[in-house]
Amino acid sequence: MFFQEVKEGLPDAIFGLVGAFQADVRPRKVNLLVGIYKDEHLKSELLPSVKKAKEQIFDRDSLADFLPIDGDLEFLEAVGPLVFGASAWKEAHSRIYSAQTVGGTCALRVGAEFIAQEVSKTVYLPNPTWPNHRSIFEKAGFQVDQYPYYSREKRGFDFDAMIRCLKALPEKTVVVLHVSCHNPTGCDPSEKEWKEISRVMLEKNLLPFFDFAYQGLGDAPEKDAFSVRYFLEKGHEMLIAYSCSKNFSMYCQRVGALFIVDENSAVKQRIGSQVKRIIRANYSNPPAHGAKIVTEILKQENLKKEWIQDLERMRRRLGLVREQLVDGLLSRSKKIDFNYLRDHKGMFSYVDLDKNQVQRMINEYGIYLLDNGRINVAGLTSKNLDYVVESLISVCET
Ligand code: LMR
Repeated sequence: MFFQEVKEGLPDAIFGLVGAFQADVRPRKVNLLVGIYKDEHLKSELLPSVKKAKEQIFDRDSLADFLPIDGDLEFLEAVGPLVFGASAWKEAHSRIYSAQTVGGTCALRVGAEFIAQEVSKTVYLPNPTWPNHRSIFEKAGFQVDQYPYYSREKRGFDFDAMIRCLKALPEKTVVVLHVSCHNPTGCDPSEKEWKEISRVMLEKNLLPFFDFAYQGLGDAPEKDAFSVRYFLEKGHEMLIAYSCSKNFSMYCQRVGALFIVDENSAVKQRIGSQVKRIIRANYSNPPAHGAKIVTEILKQENLKKEWIQDLERMRRRLGLVREQLVDGLLSRSKKIDFNYLRDHKGMFSYVDLDKNQVQRMINEYGIYLLDNGRINVAGLTSKNLDYVVESLISVCET
């Protein structure tokens, strides 16, 4: 009789509808839900470079021991330069603590617990943001608030509103930022805007916590890393939660990293000692296999080149289907200028639909998307595009 009072929890905002999609028997149903890259045949498979690396390490991957609490050092030494740039990583190495984590989600959670313990329990998330951000920070004991990020009227990133809000925050407030390919809107600040965000955050002594889950899917990896590299150059203390799920097709391997950048190297050891206590109490130590694959790719020039090409191929397809979607919508639309979708980057586009219109997409057409209007454009193909376009026009204009 211990569990009689347990209440039904709300379904997850992203994974919650997958079951309904699978149970839907309509032949034309379309899945635009979870952020997974799919090819033109709607297959989500290991990237060729990843498959090769996996085969190459097969004979060497016989480790039965635990990894250290904060993971595989070789992996961290390989991912660090990818995030910060090779020379900046070398130069700032002594003041960046890094830990391998169970995907980007655990990097966020471990980082959140660390800040709650050491710095502040107030966090501002972009409005809107990845729904799991709120749960992660709330479960880590934070008071969660939001800063304006996207404007439905402007149909884009609202730089002025964000800056106004940042200027009014008390110092030491934690501010979550998406490095690139903002989830869910696909709208990123320009380089000029990032510079101003950095300036204001330094002036107000705010702590940036970057979520970096889509490196290489919006632009080339160096370009996608602009904000984080610029913030490092400007001397911010900050955290970065990194995910290899999407750019290495490592969804089910759970490969990620947490980086904590300090002003000087004196506290790196102490930061590490606290982070390790948090990791140990949560999941003890991370899994080895996926991190070894990523390390192999980044260590071997040939594999790295192939991986860069894999990234380019994914980016091209996302760009192409997004263009086709916009062209299709514009050619049929009588009322709405859908050009705003063209500027979106990465896997997601934020379609201007209210909850009722989203329900109509699902109920009337079997097209599944998030209730805020986010679609995963990788779910679009030459076979379903016209159907999605017609359905969107019907829901938006009638
Ligand atoms: C998404 O936003 O769909 C992905 O990041 C998958 C997830 O874990 O939510």
